[in-house]
Amino acid sequence: MSIDLSVTFTGIKFSNPFLLASAPPTESESNIMRALEAGWGGVVTKTIGLHPVVNVAGPKTKFLRQYQSGALSMNKGRDGALHSSWNWELISDKPLDWWVPRLGRIKKAFPDRVLIASIMAGSGSDKELAAWQTLARACQDQGADGLELNLSCPHMDREDMGSNIGKDQKLCSSVTQVVKQVAKVPVWAKLTPSTTDIVLEAGAVFTGGGDAVVSSNTYPSVPLIDPETLEFEMNVDGLVSSGGLGGPAILPQSLAKMSQMTRAFPEKSFSGIGGIADFNQALNYLLLGCGTVQVCTAAMLDHAVGPNVVKRLVQGMTEFLEKNAHRGWRRLEDFRGLRRDRIVAHSQIRRPADSDYQGGHEPQEGYAEPVRA
Ligand SMILES: Cc1cc2nc3c(=O)[nH]c(=O)nc-3n(C[C@H](O)[C@H](O)[C@H](O)COP(=O)(O)O)c2cc1C
Repeated sequence: MSIDLSVTFTGIKFSNPFLLASAPPTESESNIMRALEAGWGGVVTKTIGLHPVVNVAGPKTKFLRQYQSGALSMNKGRDGALHSSWNWELISDKPLDWWVPRLGRIKKAFPDRVLIASIMAGSGSDKELAAWQTLARACQDQGADGLELNLSCPHMDREDMGSNIGKDQKLCSSVTQVVKQVAKVPVWAKLTPSTTDIVLEAGAVFTGGGDAVVSSNTYPSVPLIDPETLEFEMNVDGLVSSGGLGGPAILPQSLAKMSQMTRAFPEKSFSGIGGIADFNQALNYLLLGCGTVQVCTAAMLDHAVGPNVVKRLVQGMTEFLEKNAHRGWRRLEDFRGLRRDRIVAHSQIRRPADSDYQGGHEPQEGYAEPVRA
């Protein structure tokens, strides 16, 4: 039995389940072409919008590393182990008119590879909701295989955009529904992890007709303060704003969010992102039930589009399937979601044999009273 890395996710066929996430690796035609040549199963474009975008007057992304001394810093060179990325980059600063011919050219050059367009507009008026439809139509008309709605950018001043939509169940539903009205291709929604119960927003996306939920975008965070200069390690004129944390540091947190959603909606489609650099990390998301995974930080640090990262992912999955061939596994569907139901309520975790525990509650009626000495 031969191994098969291909997957069908929301009806779209991918040569492998590894995608480049919406971010600098997918901000240009040349990057996307290089990424598809390198072997990524698909790419999600840098988020495209209709509003003018001007980034800060300074670096947009830095990498926080931990050094042998224990120090954590963004500014002490590349010797340390990667802890995380930190960014306050906005969505694409290129207008829709710039993207349109490029999307068409990419699709023409790689007709069999998957191109997902990430889009973003506001939600505060009918005009804003119509902007979602304009973006959706323009991208699908150029051959985009799917749309990813950015409901998750963590650094937005506008209250009707980005993660401010992802924190509001009603808006998650209505924005998804508005796009679904015109979409001829599958619609994914990328949610912010920065909410109390992400299951509620995921449910709202599915109520709106969404075909998949994607998570996580970066986690709200600030850069560290340099103990010598007392300045934030990343700042413009001494000032900083909340930005987004990605990379290894967010893997366990993102898995927690994803596991809540895959348990609540075991039949729905999920794409996992956060802290993936090799197959062992991707495997976590797949065992929790994801049908694809996406990568940003690790790819940024590997020739901008991750040629070695995707090679490691493909090789890792091939070796994993070979190692487990005796179980009859030859593709993702044979092991996807295998550990989804192993995350349970704390009270369901076994206690020492002679102890009794009722989740911190008083003994309920019908339980034997504790034996008194
Ligand atoms: C510099 C930078 C820019 C990003 N821009 C976008 C974006 O435009 N749209 C989006 O949906 N996510 C954006 N992201 C979030 C990533 O797609 C991804 O969700 C996040 O970085 C977590 O994945 P990672 O741990 O592999 O980095 C950006 C991330 C970084 C680091």
